[in-house]
Amino acid sequence: MPRDKADEELSREEIDLSYRINFDEPIPDLIERLKREHRQFESKLAELDAADTFNNQSMKILEELSGPIVRHAVEEEARVIRVIMHKARQQSEESIKIAQEHNWIADFIKKTIPTLASMPQQQAKQEVTKFVQNLRNHFIEEEQVMFPLALRADSLP
Ligand SMILES: [Fe+2]
Ligand SMILES: [Fe+2]
Repeated sequence: MPRDKADEELSREEIDLSYRINFDEPIPDLIERLKREHRQFESKLAELDAADTFNNQSMKILEELSGPIVRHAVEEEARVIRVIMHKARQQSEESIKIAQEHNWIADFIKKTIPTLASMPQQQAKQEVTKFVQNLRNHFIEEEQVMFPLALRADSLP
């Protein structure tokens, strides 16, 4: 079946061939970097929060955040969850639930962001506020539960 141009463009965007996961980076270094990335994302989230309304600047911030957040989540699943499943599977339940939150992050990026500009101002602002709050909680859960478990798992023989 021939695919239309919009489909083609979408799939090209989804497959980011410029990005590779570095499987040689030690888990403790990776986790330090992921935490630093959380701090960088949080400063952008604070900027989003500070805006009284949803505006062009908010859209720009969301667009800039999208790629790095998706890459960050992919690394967490490919490396952090992998070491947990490999060496601490019996304690993995909560961390798996945390990683599954990547689904709503991806949904917001793929489905909600493109609709924000055409939404009533107030509603767009609410959507963004909800996303910011959920994302902050997600980072806290990762740092309190998933990252410490991955470090313990990694240190096992
Ligand atoms: Fe995450
Ligand atoms: Fe994270």
